[in-house]
Amino acid sequence: MKSNPVVLITGASGGIGKALCEEFAKDGYDLILAARSIDKMQAHAANLQQRFNTRVTVIGADLESPKGAEQLHAEIKKSGKVLTALVNNAGYGVYGEFENSELGSELAMMQLNMNTVVALTKFFLPDLLATRGKILNNASTAAFQPGPYMAVYCATKSFVLSFSEAIASELEGTGVTVTALCPGPTASGFQDKAALGNSALIKGKKLPKSEEVAALGYRAMQRGQRVYIPGAVNWVMAQSIRFTPRDLATKVVKMLLKPVA
Ligand SMILES: NC(=O)c1ccc[n+]([C@@H]2O[C@H](COP(=O)([O-])OP(=O)(O)OC[C@H]3O[C@@H](n4cnc5c(N)ncnc54)[C@H](OP(=O)(O)O)[C@@H]3O)[C@@H](O)[C@H]2O)c1
Repeated sequence: MKSNPVVLITGASGGIGKALCEEFAKDGYDLILAARSIDKMQAHAANLQQRFNTRVTVIGADLESPKGAEQLHAEIKKSGKVLTALVNNAGYGVYGEFENSELGSELAMMQLNMNTVVALTKFFLPDLLATRGKILNNASTAAFQPGPYMAVYCATKSFVLSFSEAIASELEGTGVTVTALCPGPTASGFQDKAALGNSALIKGKKLPKSEEVAALGYRAMQRGQRVYIPGAVNWVMAQSIRFTPRDLATKVVKMLLKPVA
């Protein structure tokens, strides 16, 4: 009997990751969900199993701990599962003046947004080479320019974009594709976690739903597109950065992200 393709989705307990689970389930994948909120993932798993008759495994994982990626990989290998797709989605932003932001939070975010992405990609690459699989890395439009008041977060997303494009190039001809998804501001738990609500970037704006971004990102991954920016305005902004002096682009982002009392 032919076995189903298997995907690991990190940050599957909410927002874009949770919505991505649905896209893979609809397409007949078996799912492995990883994040810290086990209860939320179990409820989501039960719902997906019932609606799509798919196999869903939930793994509690703290992926900002230095051993998190290694432990997650070991647990999946123990089960004998071989991945056909890897979604590096878990991530968050730290917002505020660099002078006053907490170094501990920034280092933990760097661990999650960058080191874990590299480690999981390295650990699961043999699976993906064997299955001619797919990698979807959740970067951001924040990847395209510096971001005053989110200096470290934006730099982590530039890292994800650069890393994704580089390994996509190395993996040409292997059958493995790498897609960097670069969403603009999207309705999810992200804004509350980063306490971004009062910035001009978010305040009073109607943001696209996580489900819309996930559906578009999923299709881009299936096409094997290297960089995908959902939304026409986001796409134009990201392109225009290439022709804008960097100090001007930085000033514009500074205005958009300036904390408002
Ligand atoms: N929303 C936006 O505006 C936006 C725009 C561009 C890019 N993105 C990117 O999209 C990705 C998903 O974010 P989202 O918008 O969907 O935000 P979200 O709703 O806050 O979801 C974040 C996910 O990451 C998981 N996560 C956070 N810390 C973790 C940890 N230490 N270990 C394991 N999992 C952890 C969370 O699960 P637990 O808390 O249960 O662990 C949750 O499932 C992130 O990489 C973000 O940078 C978001």
